[in-house]
Amino acid sequence: MRRVFLNLIGFAVLTIPVLVQAQKPADALDKKVDALIAKMTLEEKVGQMTEVTLDVVSKSNVSTHQLDLDKLKEAIMKYHVGSILNVSGFAYDRKHWYDIISQIQNEAGKDRLKIPVIYGIDAIHGVTYTLGSTLFPQEIAMAATFNRDIVHKAGEITAYETRASYIPWNYSPVLDLGKSPLWPRIYETFGEDPYLVKTMGAAIITGYQGNNVGDKYHVAACMKHYLGYSYPLSGKDRTPAWIPDRYMREYFLPPFAEAVKAGAKTLMINSGEINGVPIHASKYMLTDVLRGELHFDGIAVTDWRDIQYLHDRHHIAATQKDAVMMAVNAGVDMSMVPYDYTFFTYLVELVKEGKVPMSRINQAVHRILKVKYELGLFERPVGNPDDYPKFGSDEFRNVSLQAATEAITLLKNNNNTLPLKKGIKVLVTGPTANTMRSLDGGWSYNWQGEMADKLAVGKNTILKSIEQKIGKDNVTYQPGASFDQLQNIDDAVNAAKNADAIILCLGELSYTENVGNIDDLSLPVAQTQLALELAKTGKPIILVLAEGRPRIVTDAESHSAATIMAYLSGNEGGDALANILFGDANPSGRLSITYPRYTNSLNNYYRKNLENGNPDDKHGYNPLYEFGTGLSYTTFNYSNLHINKTELMDGETLTVSVEVKNTGSVEGKDAVLLYTSQMYASIAPDFKRLRAYNKINLKPGETKTVTFKLTSKDLAFVNDVSKTVTEGGDFKIMIGDQSISFKYISNTVPSRTGRL
Ligand code: BGC
Repeated sequence: MRRVFLNLIGFAVLTIPVLVQAQKPADALDKKVDALIAKMTLEEKVGQMTEVTLDVVSKSNVSTHQLDLDKLKEAIMKYHVGSILNVSGFAYDRKHWYDIISQIQNEAGKDRLKIPVIYGIDAIHGVTYTLGSTLFPQEIAMAATFNRDIVHKAGEITAYETRASYIPWNYSPVLDLGKSPLWPRIYETFGEDPYLVKTMGAAIITGYQGNNVGDKYHVAACMKHYLGYSYPLSGKDRTPAWIPDRYMREYFLPPFAEAVKAGAKTLMINSGEINGVPIHASKYMLTDVLRGELHFDGIAVTDWRDIQYLHDRHHIAATQKDAVMMAVNAGVDMSMVPYDYTFFTYLVELVKEGKVPMSRINQAVHRILKVKYELGLFERPVGNPDDYPKFGSDEFRNVSLQAATEAITLLKNNNNTLPLKKGIKVLVTGPTANTMRSLDGGWSYNWQGEMADKLAVGKNTILKSIEQKIGKDNVTYQPGASFDQLQNIDDAVNAAKNADAIILCLGELSYTENVGNIDDLSLPVAQTQLALELAKTGKPIILVLAEGRPRIVTDAESHSAATIMAYLSGNEGGDALANILFGDANPSGRLSITYPRYTNSLNNYYRKNLENGNPDDKHGYNPLYEFGTGLSYTTFNYSNLHINKTELMDGETLTVSVEVKNTGSVEGKDAVLLYTSQMYASIAPDFKRLRAYNKINLKPGETKTVTFKLTSKDLAFVNDVSKTVTEGGDFKIMIGDQSISFKYISNTVPSRTGRL
């Protein structure tokens, strides 16, 4: 049976035209690229499509990283590799990166056509693999700032420091939708909401790429992982997803569509399979939708080994060679092979056998070379070490500190427990209190982030920051538990008796990808036990959650006087948290994900009306904290929600305004979130959806009017024939505790108001 299926796929691939994209007129750069392609042999072209990891050109069995010049020569001269990626081992200093990149580009300069190599790296929250770089909060925390400007700025700084590491290509941002709290990469996302992901994604991409991606301070962004990677049915990484096309278009596609509009130069493909189809072999996804509908004309690179996995894991290719044929014909431009040259060998053979058309090869190579030209690699294959005086500077550090401060989210503050007074004695306890791993997360200094305590030199854990803030004499530290085992819990409980307050730091250590898979979203029992024992002392507990995903903490949290979500807030996260705990900063983060109360109730806030349950149903939508929750040390009052018209016609703009007043006694920032609900629609509408947001700063007593503009496009959804439409009918706008209704009147799409 599988054999027949495979033959069908092979047939389909060969008979379907390779490109459905509308042809744009060739500009001067296209002509330059074509002129170069005209000089290239088949092997030189296929080499450009080949990407290997740094290990392939490095010495093995050495304690510190060294390039292997013979292997490098083989990679360039024999296989003409177009790209190299990653780090071998863990982070290097700038000097070592300079040596690596210079040697690679020198070798490339000796090849017949002198085509520079494009080096790629996962600088996903700052330049992960360069020592002394500025590490920002992970994306899930950046989204919680609800501040596009700071996300953009973080993108600019990361680009600067990536170029300062002589690398022009960043495998970031993750634009996957953080819908599944179990998924071990949810912290790499901008949260669960499509609008938030889309707007934050565009903000960071324009930061990475600037106005001129080819100058010495910008890099090519790589939006990933196209498409639907983040919602595996099991919650485990790289396991199958079931996502209907309509939902794919409604929730998962918009961030990528927006990123294409923002000019993202490259894209990485989802390693998973959706509805049984691995995306790396999906011509529908990689060509029809990506090129035909989204009009993306940059490079589509595979994820790690994913062509080989079409054979080894997905079992849709009977041989490795078939796998190469399927992927390249589906629309892959570059293969992150990354450990060998089999892709090169098979692809050369496949072209000679007529199984992959030369037009497909030329198209892929055109995209790759064009980005290399745009990045300025032909003129400047290696940067100048003196051009980056701000690398790792205080100026950059302060931006990371501000981002962490605006991300950290105050979820509960009974009787104004926080901020704490500086003169008190505190117990700091819990497994995440004294490790940088719980602030930085995965992709920090090495893949799994477990070197952070050694390599985040001069950076403060939560404990260190608190000690610096209020003096060591006022702080007792007892871990009480490791991540999943009790550790001298009696010492922690006894210390609590002598403290005025307990700062209990629970959560996770670093991980990423499959290494972070879990079978149970609950916090390990030992951590809950620690919380319950400490609660018996009657001392106020300030629960700090330093974690990459919302682990279930309901029992422990029921005993806290205050609760703070610290996410993975990066190298400055400890200082930002200490500032918030002791009132030197006012929190303004809002949850970028829904925090579930129970392990088996994992709805996103944009649930369907049906998921709300009946009024007498105790099992309806009832998270511990909803998406968008976030308290402040001041109070904000919303009033006078106003719209400029109660009937919105096709083509018109609805202007929405609301007054926000700081009614408390301290200055504070507030993220103003605008949601809409459609009352009736042909597809069951979501209960509510975020359509706009804006972050403002208010002094005590100050009032600001916040204005948003909406058009019918902002109210659209994907209907039962996969078309994006706005149906006429009744809508409600909600901002804070205010709401107002209006009617949208469409000339083209019928109204569903009050009838079915
Ligand atoms: C990850 C990607 C990453 C790539 C290169 C893969 O395992 O899924 O997100 O960019 O490795 O490091």
